[in-house]
Amino acid sequence: MKISVIGTGYVGLVTGVVFAQLGHTVICMDKNREKIDNLKRGIMPIYEPGLKEMAVKNHDEGRLFYTWDIKEAVTKSDLIMIAVDTMPKENWQTNLGSVKAVAKDIGIWMNGYKVIVNKSTVPVGTGNLVERIIRQNQKKKCGFDVVSNPEFLREGQAINDTLHPDRVIIGAENTAAAMKVVEIYQDMNTVVKVTKLKSAELIKYASNAFLATKISFINSLADLAELTESDIEEIAEGIGLDKRIGRQFLNAGIGYGGSCFPKDVGSLIYTAKEFGYDFSILREVKRVNEARIERFFAKMKKTVKLKKKRIAVLGLSFKPDTDDLRESPSLKLIKFLLKEDSEVIVYDPVAMDNAKASLKRVKYAKNAYECVKGADITVLVTEWNEFRNADLKKIKKLMKGDLFFDGRNAFEPHIMKKLGFRYFSVGR
Ligand code: UDX
Repeated sequence: MKISVIGTGYVGLVTGVVFAQLGHTVICMDKNREKIDNLKRGIMPIYEPGLKEMAVKNHDEGRLFYTWDIKEAVTKSDLIMIAVDTMPKENWQTNLGSVKAVAKDIGIWMNGYKVIVNKSTVPVGTGNLVERIIRQNQKKKCGFDVVSNPEFLREGQAINDTLHPDRVIIGAENTAAAMKVVEIYQDMNTVVKVTKLKSAELIKYASNAFLATKISFINSLADLAELTESDIEEIAEGIGLDKRIGRQFLNAGIGYGGSCFPKDVGSLIYTAKEFGYDFSILREVKRVNEARIERFFAKMKKTVKLKKKRIAVLGLSFKPDTDDLRESPSLKLIKFLLKEDSEVIVYDPVAMDNAKASLKRVKYAKNAYECVKGADITVLVTEWNEFRNADLKKIKKLMKGDLFFDGRNAFEPHIMKKLGFRYFSVGR
């Protein structure tokens, strides 16, 4: 089947590359010409392990094409995936501007029956809206179906998640359309669940909101663990052994960030409100998360005067294995630290270039050791393996002080103590 993917952001590009890898002919389209020119030359717009190699291979072997021309993408394909940005507005309402614009273009250029597959995370009811916009703009009256097929990939593991998903959700208003999308997944060894169009749209939000709830729950429990002098790691293990709960996404810390959880929780609260429902659990999940940084910062301030201190910050990206800084707890914490008139030195294995554009009042170190050299305080905010595997003895020796704040519980308290650190983590 000939597939076009509109939008070469995280979801669009990874999806396009993986479907080419599975043997389909894929056109990746983006209106940003520079991005397309770069992709043709093998330059990826994002850092994602394994993406470049797979993209270059499939491009060279003639299965993966790039274009900035929407007409080409629409006319040359049977199945069109919409994977454009859905950046939230201030009030977390989803901005559907890009989705609507693409729907209009699809209508204009449609030259025969097509299946339109929505991959972007969009509020329930958007599939019907896309259908209406296409119909209103059709120059040539041809049949089409709109299907929702949400993407569940994680940044940093996007290729593997897309090739080996836990499940594929296909939401459609008729079985024939759903089956056309099932077809493109036939070589994947996974569960394919066909649902109503609107259910699929909600499943995406529900998944992310549930995972965010797990994180805010464990973080709240971590606060109680601190007050009761118990250990959140042991508690997470203990409850995680119950198969109904599971150990994953119970890592306490400085809170969740990234392009999805904050946006999707906010958007689901907003959508619920539009339907007259107060999703109060999620309002609390959001509130707990937003309070994490302040709480962590307060812990630092309670322990030591931060004014004029040299503070080494390890990690800038919102989580390891990505250069993504969106809603990054690290950047938020750094803002607090800078207000204290302290000197902040930062290091991140891959997110430094992205940070330099917006984060000006800090010093950038070349590696973790240079970062901690002469520091009064070290703070770990992103648990990169590079930090987990670092020579802690060397770090201790290089630092001027002995204070180590760990926002991700990356180290064992007794080992840190033995090494001579005054070590503070979360919920332990
Ligand atoms: C998430 C979903 O996992 C994915 O299915 C969806 O398609 C997009 O959103 P992603 O944003 O890439 O993926 O990151 P994820 O690995 O889920 O982590 C999200 C945030 O939660 C990170 O800031 C991470 O540090 C934090 N987190 C995760 C915790 O604080 N504790 C945990 O136990 C797990």
